[in-house]
Amino acid sequence: MEKRNLPWYAMGALIEQEDIDIASKVVADCAHSPKGFFRLPEEAEFQKAFAAHEGAAFASAVNSAGTGLDLAMMALDVGPGDEVITTPLTFVCTATTAMLRGAKVVLADIDPVTYNLDPKSVEARITPRTKVVIPVHFGGIPCDIEAYDRLAAKYGIRVVYDAAHAVGSLHKGKAIGGFGDMTVYSFQTNKNMTTLGEGGAVTTDSAELNAKLEKLKSFGFQYGAKDDVVMLGSNYRLTKVQSAAGILQLNKVDRNNEIRNRGVAALDRYLAGIPEVVRPTVPAGDFSACHLNTYLIDETKVDPKAFFEMLMKEYTVGISFHYKPLYAWKVFVDAGYEAKDTPVADRVCRELFQIPVFAHMTDDDYRCIAWAIGECVARLRR
Ligand SMILES: Cc1ncc(COP(=O)(O)O)c(C=O)c1O
Repeated sequence: MEKRNLPWYAMGALIEQEDIDIASKVVADCAHSPKGFFRLPEEAEFQKAFAAHEGAAFASAVNSAGTGLDLAMMALDVGPGDEVITTPLTFVCTATTAMLRGAKVVLADIDPVTYNLDPKSVEARITPRTKVVIPVHFGGIPCDIEAYDRLAAKYGIRVVYDAAHAVGSLHKGKAIGGFGDMTVYSFQTNKNMTTLGEGGAVTTDSAELNAKLEKLKSFGFQYGAKDDVVMLGSNYRLTKVQSAAGILQLNKVDRNNEIRNRGVAALDRYLAGIPEVVRPTVPAGDFSACHLNTYLIDETKVDPKAFFEMLMKEYTVGISFHYKPLYAWKVFVDAGYEAKDTPVADRVCRELFQIPVFAHMTDDDYRCIAWAIGECVARLRR
């Protein structure tokens, strides 16, 4: 087969003509309006539609998943003396959000089949100080939600899901936004839907938590007959233009998720004869938005570093990597964190790579990627 150039794009969303036109349309509408860029009614419409899409009673639009997680920690009054348990296989802010509030982060191990935070490992680390657990629906694969419901009931802990990768994922046929206490989503440019490059939302079934999030994200304001500032907050709001873009993106995210899943299915067919390459399993009855299309290269059979380099340099396949484990970042090293009793996460972080699945890619592109992977494995097999 011929090599082809298959670059990695920092654009996971479907962008069509209406998405290109929306910003100038809103700007034109606002330019001579007495309300200027005031965020309503687009924000309210987007929040309602997003909550419905994700199966939650409420959604609060915010300017990123990072700030959404900050708000979730504030809403649960996380602070010094508290412990927050999460996975080492995630983006830094899943953990730093708790550290910023003065809490201690405790890292538990991941499940070897889904790569999601393992509830058994979480339970072994629960102490009287544990306040919150933050499972990540990693790559879009839903977590073991029933297990976290049980832990929450048994130990009185709160559950905040990091669903930055998982708009449109389904657990046992149900959207994932109403589980636990809150679920935090990202609309940053890589994600399967985007609100012009940045954005996020926090969903919840709790009217009380939603009311708190809405105040916290807007300087602590309680709007009503007599406006007042009733708590300390700041400005974490999404703009009017972004909410308008979000309404359009939400209408096409399921289509995008299906396209990505078809790409993954094609890749899996072409990779079937290469046992050195494995991927996480989506639990039966669940649906993954497949934001990250992750695979592992078995380090006992092929040296991962040599494999990644050969695939990228010699076969021009634009694979991408996930971040190193949380405990390896300087900010965690400085705070005294080290690799400790998370052997599955340690190995997965060394072996994991992502293969592009973008809407514009063809079946032949996937065949070419699988061929290139097969060539690299054959040349590097120990
Ligand atoms: C698991 C996870 N959580 C949170 C975030 C932060 O999202 P944002 O860029 O919207 O702040 C990311 C970013 O990619 C992520 O991967």
